[in-house]
Amino acid sequence: MSGLIAPHGGTLIDRVLTGEELQKQRERAAGLKQVALDAFALSDLELIAVGAFSPLTGFMGSADYNNVVDNMRLADGTVWSLPITLPVTEEAAAAIEVGESVALVGEDGVIYGLLDVTEKFTPDKVREAENVYRTAEDAHPGVAKLYARPNVYLAGPIWLLERDPNKDFPDFRFDPKETRQLFADRGWKTVVGFQTRNPVHRAHEYIQKSALEIVDGLFLNPLVGETKSDDIPADVRMESYQVLLSNYYPAERVQLGVFPAAMRYAGPREAVFHAMVRKNFGCTHFIVGRDHAGVGSYYGTYDAQLIFSNFTAEELGIQPLFFEHSFYCTKCQSMASTKTCPHGKEDHLTLSGTKVREKLRNGEALPVEFTRPEVAAVLIQGLREKASV
Ligand code: ADX
Repeated sequence: MSGLIAPHGGTLIDRVLTGEELQKQRERAAGLKQVALDAFALSDLELIAVGAFSPLTGFMGSADYNNVVDNMRLADGTVWSLPITLPVTEEAAAAIEVGESVALVGEDGVIYGLLDVTEKFTPDKVREAENVYRTAEDAHPGVAKLYARPNVYLAGPIWLLERDPNKDFPDFRFDPKETRQLFADRGWKTVVGFQTRNPVHRAHEYIQKSALEIVDGLFLNPLVGETKSDDIPADVRMESYQVLLSNYYPAERVQLGVFPAAMRYAGPREAVFHAMVRKNFGCTHFIVGRDHAGVGSYYGTYDAQLIFSNFTAEELGIQPLFFEHSFYCTKCQSMASTKTCPHGKEDHLTLSGTKVREKLRNGEALPVEFTRPEVAAVLIQGLREKASV
């Protein structure tokens, strides 16, 4: 198989049915009991099937789940930091026997997949919240989501029968085997992955380009699955990435592709998860900056970097690249971080996410030292259009 780096666990999982087998299983699925998937579970199903979550072949059973929650490892010891589970209601679970196969149905009524049920179990969600999110408070959006979803986990290997035909950003949707091919075709031996759920501001650009000084290519991989309602919508962000790339990045060294997963806001644990998944997409390096995947003040600024010290370089496979809090310094007259700038906070231009969103919604320009003007223009216009519909 083409690619630069071995997938997590050694094999790129492929559970997407095609050809005659697809036909056969579609017919079989039509006669099976149905289990409803929310958008979150549907995106997990697809990501498992295409190998983004390798070595997972399905939704986790209790042995994997417990070891992940307690020790950030699958039952066999492989590094894995977030539970990937299929929550169903008690009534739905009661109607299903272990050993049977069920059809996995989206909110649109389409049968997207099959699950061979190997187990059903009731998790201790408070323990899951405390270990995974480091808080049991439902003010945390990831914990709120965990509590809001049903209470029994169905487990077992899956098969994908249907790709969603109405997916957004079709030009930027690549399965791991496709990104691996794209990177190989471009002759990249080293590729840094960049996770984001925000517009790319100058600080993001600075750490991406710092990384690009030492690797062959950048995989700009914005998350476009479910996010909090106050995050900037994915379609507006996608437009802002394209305008930024075409004006400020060398085209031959950057690949834009979406990451269609739900955001968990699990901070440190999600950083490890994000790194493992990007390894499956073929990245050799992964950027972890300040408060990666954090929300509010639940995590320390560098907790998402410190967590990587729990694992050896061999276990991780992908190399995390850690960056300090970055900003524009008016005295240095350049982007910098506390590692490279001797000046005080009063000389540093920083804006909170909340402040940025507030300015954009009011149609106010952002300082050019903070965000490229072309990007700000797209964001202001995009948010204005959203507000008027
Ligand atoms: S995240 O939830 O997807 O992590 P965001 O899109 O803001 O949020 O961050 C993307 C990446 O950039 C993360 O690795 C984050 O740590 C890093 N990052 C964001 N802002 C800064 C900054 N000012 N300085 C250094 N790193 C940053």
